[in-house]
Amino acid sequence: MSDSLKKKKVYNIAVVGATGAVGMTFVRLLEARNFPVNSLKLLASERSVGKKIDFKGQTYSVELLNNESFKDIDIAFFSAGASISKVYAKIAVASGATVIDNSSAFRLVDDVPLVVPEVNPEEAFKHNGIIANPNCTTAILLVALKPLYDYTKIRRVVVASYQAASGAGAKAMDELINQTYSWANNGTINVSKFQYQLLFNVIPHIDVFTETGYTKEEMKMYDETKKILGDNDIKVSATCVRVPVLTAHSEAVVVDCENEITVEKAKELFSRAKGVKLYDEIMNNIYPMPLISAGKDDVYVGRIRKDLAFEHGIAFWVSGDQLRKGGALNAIQIAELISL
Ligand code: A2P
Repeated sequence: MSDSLKKKKVYNIAVVGATGAVGMTFVRLLEARNFPVNSLKLLASERSVGKKIDFKGQTYSVELLNNESFKDIDIAFFSAGASISKVYAKIAVASGATVIDNSSAFRLVDDVPLVVPEVNPEEAFKHNGIIANPNCTTAILLVALKPLYDYTKIRRVVVASYQAASGAGAKAMDELINQTYSWANNGTINVSKFQYQLLFNVIPHIDVFTETGYTKEEMKMYDETKKILGDNDIKVSATCVRVPVLTAHSEAVVVDCENEITVEKAKELFSRAKGVKLYDEIMNNIYPMPLISAGKDDVYVGRIRKDLAFEHGIAFWVSGDQLRKGGALNAIQIAELISL
């Protein structure tokens, strides 16, 4: 399937969930990266049919997603949630498309590769029609873990995330903006996408709770890290927290390595790593923040220090654009890998 894609020069593309936060980022990045698009089909629900979206100077109308949507499509990017992927990804594959799915629907399925191009690019070529894009927080974490992992195996990762509203979609971003306007105008603060008011708050609850006491989001980090690194022994303990930030997730990370690794070595590894921007000059107050990493392709790494709890521990802070590396960018990089 990958070979047939490589023979083509231009591609018929579908974006499922094109009106969403990640979906809109797909359109902007396909344009910015000059991906060889022959035709573009923008798909969403009835609510958005006819909505206009610009791509390379042309205006496209959003179409209704249905069983016929994938005729002649080469690559279909899905970002409309797991239930839509479960129904339509197989229909797209049966129509001849290669699906790159941003939902959790297939990530842990055995014959579906789960790919971060900086980490396990070779896996992408083993697909049977569907390639999964990791959970956004996991993708950002893995880009940062990879250079350390290649130097010395990592045994344990303890991570706390600071996740932006964008991770819950476009309507969640609107909710945070509307709460801000309402607060400034003494209005009523409405809550619908999050469990509580997000403005002036942090919420340690993303996705549903599981029987382990961890949330599903936290268990995604545990399971997906193992699959992407191909290492069933690595252990991940995550606490995922929603913070009142619009775009870009940040993570406080501690890794416990098999062998000694110095701070200088870690910095050198980060400085050479693909997809990583070393951003670490504490004497000048230089460290990653959402205001720095939002809108950027690289994940920003800083606050690198010797961890005081583990013998071979390194602590650091990473911030990456959830809509880009945590979503659309990673998926487009996978498409570039298997097609160009
Ligand atoms: P729509 O805007 O028509 O609801 P986000 O993650 O930012 O909330 O975006 C979710 C995306 O998934 C949107 O583009 C949304 O389209 C799309 N979507 C949600 N439900 C459906 C559905 N039943 N069929 C097609 N697209 C859907």
